[in-house]
Amino acid sequence: MFPKTFSPVKIGPLDLKNRLVMAPLTRQVADADGTPTAEMAAYYARRARGGIGLIISEGTYEVDELGCKAYLSQPGIANDKHVAGWKLTTEAVHELGTPIICQLMHGGRVSDPRCLFEGESPVSASATQSEGWVLYTDNDAEKHDRGIDGDWPKVTFPPARDLTVDELHRVADGFAEGAVRAVEAGFDGVEIHGANGYLVYQFIHPKTNLRTDDYGGSAENNVRFAKLICQKVRDAIGPDKLITLRLSQDGVDDFMGAWPGGVDYARQVGAALADCAADALHWSSFDWTDNRDPNSDVPMAKAIGEASGKPMLVNGGIADGPGAEALFDSDTGVAAVVGRPLFAQPDWPHIIRSGMDYPWAEFDRKYVIQPAVDLGIHYPMDRRVPDWDPDVSKRR
Ligand SMILES: Cc1cc2nc3c(=O)[nH]c(=O)nc-3n(C[C@H](O)[C@H](O)[C@H](O)COP(=O)(O)O)c2cc1C
Repeated sequence: MFPKTFSPVKIGPLDLKNRLVMAPLTRQVADADGTPTAEMAAYYARRARGGIGLIISEGTYEVDELGCKAYLSQPGIANDKHVAGWKLTTEAVHELGTPIICQLMHGGRVSDPRCLFEGESPVSASATQSEGWVLYTDNDAEKHDRGIDGDWPKVTFPPARDLTVDELHRVADGFAEGAVRAVEAGFDGVEIHGANGYLVYQFIHPKTNLRTDDYGGSAENNVRFAKLICQKVRDAIGPDKLITLRLSQDGVDDFMGAWPGGVDYARQVGAALADCAADALHWSSFDWTDNRDPNSDVPMAKAIGEASGKPMLVNGGIADGPGAEALFDSDTGVAAVVGRPLFAQPDWPHIIRSGMDYPWAEFDRKYVIQPAVDLGIHYPMDRRVPDWDPDVSKRR
């Protein structure tokens, strides 16, 4: 069944046994100081046992400065304690013969204000302010605990200030330092998170990048920061580790977001990334076939792949074997990256390979938070900060 999906592939320096990759999925179950836990090792190892070809870790903060940390209970790779914690995961996953890379991210203007230091403003490409988003799960039990009736309130973020050129070099150095620690922790490489609304995305998306220096104003300039990070990371960890760069047009605070110019802009981004130090690019979406461009039916990942000449990892709405095979038939990517199915069912690769029907449930938030099958390791419900106030000046 599904011969393309289950054929081996080499991506950068890594040999994968099949073309299924676990998407980065934030769990928020690290210790409060960012140390990865044994529960996380069990969670990742369980997915490795389920037959996935490569795991990308959840978004991890690489340094504890300049508003990098984005979530409470987010894991870090910012110090030796974090390295020791992640070793539990990398060793458990490697024992099952599966490679794993660490997704490094900086929250930028959408870092949870509770993660900022006293008096600190969030940073971004430009001085802008996110319109906010619903940060919490819509889990009924957690709502009950917090005494909230109705919908979760929208979380607001303070206005962000723009990074100076010196500071953005410092942020890029932080990615490189985190990458070195990730390798020390046993990871087979890193993914630079340039997608989903966070800092690097804020540079790449013309909506949030209003700069007039070398880091803004054109697709080429908008990706310069991402390329700087990739180069510094490559210089720090060498050629034997995988580096991927994740891209998207939507973000956590703009789920329906689209790049102005659509496929044309994607082509410009791809062309500008042709000499990027990443081995592969990773397109993130909730449906890879939906390019949100009324003037073209070319998938964004295909446009970027053709323009950059880089292998594409493609994510979004791939829920079963025919769905993965369709991606390869369309010649859009070298690997299918799968998120929500693996929340729910760690054995998903084995199940689809068997040809059995996969009892897919609706793709809604509750399904993600309280998966139908793997109830043992569900979304966390212990992140209670009942007196939280989004006003940064009141933090800590
Ligand atoms: C609860 C949840 C957490 C996520 N955490 C991350 C993350 O840490 N980093 C990231 O790049 N994307 C993250 N994503 C996005 C997923 O990687 C993926 O793009 C999305 O689930 C769509 O893929 P799917 O259709 O296979 O689920 C998250 C998605 C969900 C639902």
